[in-house]
Amino acid sequence: MDAKRFAIRTYGCQMNVHDSEKVATLLEDAGLDAAPGEAEADVLVINTCSIRDKAEHQLYSDLGKLRAWKDAKAGRVVGVAGCVAQQVGDKLLGRFDHVDFVFGTHNLRRVGEMLEAADSGTRAAWVGEDASPERFDLPMRRPEAPVGRRHRAFVTVMEGCDMFCSFCIVPSTRGREISRVATAIEAEVLSLAEQGIREVTLLGQTVNAYGRHDVRRGQAAAVGTMPFAELLARLDAIPGIERIRYTSPHPLFYDDELIRAHGELASLCPHVHLPVQSGSNRILEAMRRRYTRERYFEIVDALRTARPDVSITSDLIVGFPGETESDFEDTLDLVERAALVDSFSFKYSPRPGTKAAEMTDEVSPEVAQDRLERLQAKQKVQTLAYHARRVGEQALVFVDGESRRGDGQLSGRDPQHRVVNVDLAPGHRIVPGDALAVDLVEALPHCLIGVPIDPALRAPSPA
Ligand code: SAH
Ligand code: SF4
Ligand code: F3S
Repeated sequence: MDAKRFAIRTYGCQMNVHDSEKVATLLEDAGLDAAPGEAEADVLVINTCSIRDKAEHQLYSDLGKLRAWKDAKAGRVVGVAGCVAQQVGDKLLGRFDHVDFVFGTHNLRRVGEMLEAADSGTRAAWVGEDASPERFDLPMRRPEAPVGRRHRAFVTVMEGCDMFCSFCIVPSTRGREISRVATAIEAEVLSLAEQGIREVTLLGQTVNAYGRHDVRRGQAAAVGTMPFAELLARLDAIPGIERIRYTSPHPLFYDDELIRAHGELASLCPHVHLPVQSGSNRILEAMRRRYTRERYFEIVDALRTARPDVSITSDLIVGFPGETESDFEDTLDLVERAALVDSFSFKYSPRPGTKAAEMTDEVSPEVAQDRLERLQAKQKVQTLAYHARRVGEQALVFVDGESRRGDGQLSGRDPQHRVVNVDLAPGHRIVPGDALAVDLVEALPHCLIGVPIDPALRAPSPA
């Protein structure tokens, strides 16, 4: 009999994307093959996100449609993973009788077992919390990873969140903060470098909180963790790793060492995605973010002093309970003063079990929508102005693949994490992962246009 085939549908943040990669490796280890698409799959895993109400509802809408998928072929199995699985647990089994298994964010390792149980007709939810560092003991990524990802990889350094921002469900879907042993992280990065990976993105819900509990308790050496800046220095020393990124850091965990690292470590990229959420001190306090706008400016300024070409991007929420027009204007002002190169902005969405969900001074949906649009319009102008300032510079682009235009134009990222699209002379084979030195010649709202510095690679200019 042919091996069963699986597909994974992924929602949410990079952590979830990486979890899906881990589940794929685990399923391959269990003897399954990756299906070319869901139509060919026998097993479908939905890896879910719960950050906003809409994300959670996406799952319910998907599951409604999946009855037909499941009925179309005997023996098909549906599994639900990720943050909604952790949040809702076995109630999903009660509500959707075509779901075979549910597994939470701490139970990835058991996916093979779950599948066996499902095949023998047992429906179950595995959502227990696992506080042990063994949770990180997962099979290594395979060298033959899918095309497009041959040069860069995610590496988990910590998981969970102890911050309990008043709006956020993540502490309950990801559990308590736990940091991985540094030697295991180093070994993984070393092995990735040997496979040809040149760029790593370190992942954690509050990634720069890495090791902080152990350091504070004086146990870092015993446990095998260290301050985040030290971890960065160790990884910077690994030959072959040319770019290190990390996401998402929290402003509370920037110390002098981490700022200095940005000026000193050659492979640490000049880009920091530093979520601020609001520009109003009153709202920041209600959000329990534990910093002020002034502190945010201090960090941004210090990063720019250490690394003048650093690009700062952020996450912002509008319409948090009690947000006035004047609070919102503080956010607009912060976007400008911090010179954010780009931002993701969201309308506040109440989440079950959070402090903010109990707040009653809601902002109306119309006002929130209006603020979102004004914020995004402002950011768009600022992003374009940043791109325009970069025109005339040279940049090294790591190619990811074809651009959205889909006519052979290449697309990649510069060290600042901006998208750069490049037209090449016909007949040149540049594959994902190749580095391409370009002159930046044009600024667009969503990308920069680059022209290869090597004249042999340049596309003929249109007549
Ligand atoms: N750990 C990161 C955030 C991860 S969640 C940090 O502390 O910054 C990603 C983003 O989703 C957040 O930065 C926030 O902007 C947004 N978000 C989280 N909860 C939300 C909610 N209840 N409503 C709207 N946006 C939310
Ligand atoms: Fe959520 Fe705050 Fe933790 Fe970020 S730091 S994951 S916003 S609770
Ligand atoms: Fe979503 Fe969970 Fe990430 S809620 S944003 S997938 S940590």
